[in-house]
Amino acid sequence: MYVCLCQGVTDGQIRDAIYEGCCSYREVRETTGVATQCGKCACVAKQVVRDTLSNV
Ligand code: FES
Repeated sequence: MYVCLCQGVTDGQIRDAIYEGCCSYREVRETTGVATQCGKCACVAKQVVRDTLSNV
């Protein structure tokens, strides 16, 4: 599903970024561009990062 409509970032892309080495929300944001425009998706994006990091 799309987490960030502005940048077209899906939850799968966030997970992939973490599997490929990102280990914080900040790094995921820099890598995927998630939450870099309107910012409305930040809460959900952070949640996906948190959930994924606690499962790796
Ligand atoms: Fe992610 Fe707007 S929906 S920055």
